[in-house]
Amino acid sequence: MPYSVPKLETYSAEELDKAVAELLNALQQESQSISDETTWTDFRNRWTARKNGILTQINDGWLKAAPGPQKREVGQRVNQVRQRVEAVVEETKESLSGAGSEKRLKAEAVDITLPGTQRQLGATHPITLVMDEIVSVFKAMGYSVAEGPEIETDYYNFEALNFPLNHPARDMQDTIFIAGQEKKQQRDRLLLRTHTSPVQIRYMEKHQPPVRVVIPGRVYRNDAPDATHSPMFHQIEGLAVDTNITFSDLKGTLDHAMKMLFGSRIKTKLRPSFFPFTEPSAEVLVTCPFCTKGCRVCKMSGWIELLGAGMVDPALYGYVGYDPAKVSGFAFGMGLDRLAAMKYGVDDIQLFFHGDVRFLRQFA
Ligand code: DAH
Repeated sequence: MPYSVPKLETYSAEELDKAVAELLNALQQESQSISDETTWTDFRNRWTARKNGILTQINDGWLKAAPGPQKREVGQRVNQVRQRVEAVVEETKESLSGAGSEKRLKAEAVDITLPGTQRQLGATHPITLVMDEIVSVFKAMGYSVAEGPEIETDYYNFEALNFPLNHPARDMQDTIFIAGQEKKQQRDRLLLRTHTSPVQIRYMEKHQPPVRVVIPGRVYRNDAPDATHSPMFHQIEGLAVDTNITFSDLKGTLDHAMKMLFGSRIKTKLRPSFFPFTEPSAEVLVTCPFCTKGCRVCKMSGWIELLGAGMVDPALYGYVGYDPAKVSGFAFGMGLDRLAAMKYGVDDIQLFFHGDVRFLRQFA
């Protein structure tokens, strides 16, 4: 029902207020049903048409008809209504034509089909991949993981591992010593650790048996770099100490671990060896994962030597305060670099350390 302008009787302020409020209310209501060009034009004409538009109606019906003393007051009201009507007509036009919201939306639009800023993703280094894999095999058997310092004292690297002072067993590991240590006692002198075994001692000092731990890390030796040597390389150490640990636990654990790493057809065998910190000691060999009857990797022997291992020499327990009459254990250590080279068919371990992205990208 279109709105029709009320007639004024008294022209009192009260009556005017009521009529204006009614009018503006109707304006508001009608403006809300504008949905397109046509409804907007109808709306505009109804309110502003010269001939008989509502503004004209109130001009004629209110202002012109007002008695002299009231004209001023009525004139103000009519102006107020006119301004409001013109504003609403303008606003509704804008939001319809897109001069307002649509245009703004367009201007602010983001093209979500544009490719984003790409960040180069890093990837795990092949030696870390192998390290993580071995760690997870032992974690699954209940082993913890520990680490130790790469700059080590003579005590942890040698003495507490049962390498006596000046014993020729020390010569087996071409040690890189830190200069200017002569004033210190031998056991306090610093060196770059030659193996991860010192962390066995550090771990036992801090933990009571039962102990089951693997220790991955970097080690250093004074070796000239070539296809199979590097002055910096990687090892993973293992240590299990408890009551009644036997040599068959060592054998079973390593056999299982190697099968997890290389597949269940792998076999293992032990060969007698010597390490100062194990007694008896063994080298652990696995059947070549790459062939059945001999290849370049296993040098036609069908076997690959992977680990050093043995029963923890009871002398070590003396250094860490364990009772050798109550506990026994085994330990093992293996190099990761040659293993990674073998696994990925890399024929020069130097490639692992040169940081050449073209090489490393192959493992991403
Ligand atoms: N630390 C030895 C090395 O670097 C490897 C090793 C041998 C570690 C026997 C052990 C072990 O824990 O029981 O040559």
